[in-house]
Amino acid sequence: MERLDKLLVSQGVGSRREVQKLIRRKAVTVNGETVTKPDLKLDPDNSRIEVSGRPISYKKNIYLMLNKPAGFVSATEDNLSRTVLELVPEEYRRRGLAPAGRLDKDTEGLLILTDDGDFAHKLISPKSKVYKRYYAELDAEITEEDIESFKSGIVLENGEKCLPARLEKCENSSAFVEICEGKFHQVKKMFLSRGKKVLYLRRDAIGTLRLDVNLPKGMARELTKTEKDAIFVVK
Ligand code: URA
Repeated sequence: MERLDKLLVSQGVGSRREVQKLIRRKAVTVNGETVTKPDLKLDPDNSRIEVSGRPISYKKNIYLMLNKPAGFVSATEDNLSRTVLELVPEEYRRRGLAPAGRLDKDTEGLLILTDDGDFAHKLISPKSKVYKRYYAELDAEITEEDIESFKSGIVLENGEKCLPARLEKCENSSAFVEICEGKFHQVKKMFLSRGKKVLYLRRDAIGTLRLDVNLPKGMARELTKTEKDAIFVVK
């Protein structure tokens, strides 16, 4: 059972004060009855709630796929740069979403935003073995030694050792890389340790969830249940 005002806040209807005002103004009904008590306790899964005649479809958590463009930082607030939260529609932003893992400011592609902390933690943790797939353009061709070195675990310039990673050579000095951890600037640093510079980086997949090619850059949408589950399918 949950308090009505708290529940409406969690669903992005408004702030606690705004929601209480709506309730007092008789704008909220539960199972067809007008409710005037903000502290009414109800079962969100089995109650029909309407605000100003608009049904609220209750969701415990929100999971968004964002096609991140370059130029935005993966944070909820920043004093200097625009954040990925600015790309998310207002009704979601009110729910306290945060990026599950980071992409650098100049990196593009698949970013998940959620208000489910456990889910985000699981997605990020190397223990979950969720591989993140990146497409990278480099300033030199990939060699067989690079592939072997990624496979056996790159040692970064600061001495940190990376877990084994998959590297696949593509045309014109580009490559696909798959890693299951997220050290700061990891892909760029891995290539740097091989004497190569990343000129462009995009994340294409997390687990078996691929970036929706029909989702325009800068746009976000909710994940379907199947897509959400696809993240944790280990290849
Ligand atoms: N590795 C990087 O270097 N940058 C990213 O944004 C993601 C992985």
